[in-house]
Amino acid sequence: MKTVIPFVARTVEGDQLGWLDALGAAMPDCEIRAFENTSTADRLSCKFAIVADPDPADLAKMPNLVWIHSLWAGVEHILAQLPASGLHIVRLQDPQMAKSMAEAVLAWSLYLHRGMPLYREQQTNSEWLAHDLPLASERTIGILGLGNLGKMAAHRLQQQDFDVCGWSRSGSPVEGVRVYAGTPGLDAVLTQSDIIVILTPLTDQTRGLLGQAQFSRMKKGASLINFARGPILDEDALLDSLDCAHLDHAVLDVFSTEPLPRTSRMWRHKNITVLPHISGPTNRMTASAIVADNVARYIETGELPEGVNLSRGY
Ligand code: GLV
Repeated sequence: MKTVIPFVARTVEGDQLGWLDALGAAMPDCEIRAFENTSTADRLSCKFAIVADPDPADLAKMPNLVWIHSLWAGVEHILAQLPASGLHIVRLQDPQMAKSMAEAVLAWSLYLHRGMPLYREQQTNSEWLAHDLPLASERTIGILGLGNLGKMAAHRLQQQDFDVCGWSRSGSPVEGVRVYAGTPGLDAVLTQSDIIVILTPLTDQTRGLLGQAQFSRMKKGASLINFARGPILDEDALLDSLDCAHLDHAVLDVFSTEPLPRTSRMWRHKNITVLPHISGPTNRMTASAIVADNVARYIETGELPEGVNLSRGY
């Protein structure tokens, strides 16, 4: 008999079917069943589940659950909703996601470097006006967060000739990157960068990391890219810094409320580019292969995949 693995997700139906197909194809010896279609016996016997933004009430209906495998890289929502649950939480660490994110960091860094928002605005005014273009090597890009995503992004930017520095919790060396840590280190990155890219996980340490004080330490005319989580920055303080033209432009893919409410001023701000949380999408095929590997190892040997460090928050 096939092992039944509950799939617990608050996703739209089409998305859920796509995931059930991809996960099923990667684990032909198991049966991946949407949580609502699991029987009481399935719920009582299962030791692990695959989740995507799970409803904690659903997880509570599986009393023998030992671990969950999230299909998201960021697990702050699970940690906030399941405090002290004792569950072993595995987050998705997919090299394909790191590649995709690095591609997005490069694309939107080039967008800012080549002045695309300005030329777009000039076009709407039929204005023919060329601006000086600094060399990529004269632009410093500061990456906040040097985990798998940050390192790959740094590498892509270096290949494109940008000068790259970064800030991380540990301060561990990364080849070719000037790495800083701690509060003075954050200040050093903010004050030397022309573009700041946020790629840190959302934790108690990074919530509100960038506010009025930090924006005012950034260079006049610098820009910001947030591809991590909305609450890492203070949105009102960012709007103030853009309104007074201290900062030039912000590319925001994440917000403190998602979807971004239609009434938000950020939709209409000429110095903000709004993206609908698309910078580092999970690829169903590669993610399913990673989950399948972790599940197979657990079924064969009982070994749990590396889990989230609760005190670190990711
Ligand atoms: C997306 O934001 C993720 O956490 O995977």
